[in-house]
Amino acid sequence: MSLPSKVKIVEVSPRDGLQNEKEFIDTSIKIELVNRLSQAGFPNIEAVSFVSPKWVPQMADGAEVMAGITRYPDIIYSALTPNLRGLEAAVAAGVDEVVIFGAASEAFSQRNINCSIAESIARFEPVAEAAKAAGLRLRGSISCALGCPYQGETPIESVVDVARRYMALGCDEIDVADTIGVGTAVRVKQVMQAVSQVVDPTRISGHFHDTYGQALANILAAMETGISIFHTSVAGLGGCPYAKGATGNIATEDVLYMLRGLDIDTGIDLDAVVDIGQWISGHIGHKSSSRAGNALAARKVA
Ligand code: HMG
Ligand code: MG
Repeated sequence: MSLPSKVKIVEVSPRDGLQNEKEFIDTSIKIELVNRLSQAGFPNIEAVSFVSPKWVPQMADGAEVMAGITRYPDIIYSALTPNLRGLEAAVAAGVDEVVIFGAASEAFSQRNINCSIAESIARFEPVAEAAKAAGLRLRGSISCALGCPYQGETPIESVVDVARRYMALGCDEIDVADTIGVGTAVRVKQVMQAVSQVVDPTRISGHFHDTYGQALANILAAMETGISIFHTSVAGLGGCPYAKGATGNIATEDVLYMLRGLDIDTGIDLDAVVDIGQWISGHIGHKSSSRAGNALAARKVA
């Protein structure tokens, strides 16, 4: 299959990136990050999550972040909502899209959201209903679709089963998430092709963490199966608090650099993203893990 001419990038650093930082990051920095990303041209920004602050303290200021940002009418601002309480907070904050997140692995479901897969789907039913009633877009994220830190390889049928259940709940988009970054290209193709049997591929996104350095190859493989939505994180920020050793999502700068080389349009200003990557890395006190970002930044200084 030929590669897509256009790709939608969902920037997840304000949520998936920052949630993993141990030191609390000032709300004003979070707001500035989202604003800078909006200006750089991202069509969809995963801005906050409305989860239990006992579980993820870093995300406790989601309402303040949403209230403080400058909203652009064409940008979708998303929030993670594990339950009705989260959904109500998301509606009050005026987000455009809510994300329900379950796993294709039982063990991870227990660690991340403290219930079984079946219980999680039952818990999402009223969330999905209320989201639709409020006129919000609904996205369903399938964690551990390529492997689980506790269970090893995830059966493809489990991923397809969760995707099918999400579609029944009315999801507009489904994320196939490699939470711990263990997937490799052939397996990614097999999973994407299998999920494409129950979800239109234009509604499937790839969410690849880069733990084993496979994420760019996995994106290319996914594009070859017709997938054209990908989640990325500026400077490669992130990890997952419930997946030990997992690094962040693939760095946005690296993906934009690859897509530019392939002549695939994203509408995003790579140069601005390089600056954002360096700026946020400076604020949180560790070096950007984006190879392209660091190389391009060095060229600017030279
Ligand atoms: P629980 O402890 O089983 O349930 O948590 P609970 O209902 O007993 O709630 C515990 C406390 O949290 C209570 O407070 C609730 O009121 C409060 P207390 O009475 O003890 O004072 N609470 C809330 N507070 C604010 N907002 C809420 C909310 N809900 C409950 N929405 C629960 C169950 C699902 C809430 C919890 O496990 C949780 O919040 N988990 C979220 C974990 C999380 O955010 N993980 C990271 C995101 S997932 C991820 O990164 C993967 C992804 O990127 C894709 C990938 O890479 O695979 C999406
Ligand atoms: Mg993630």
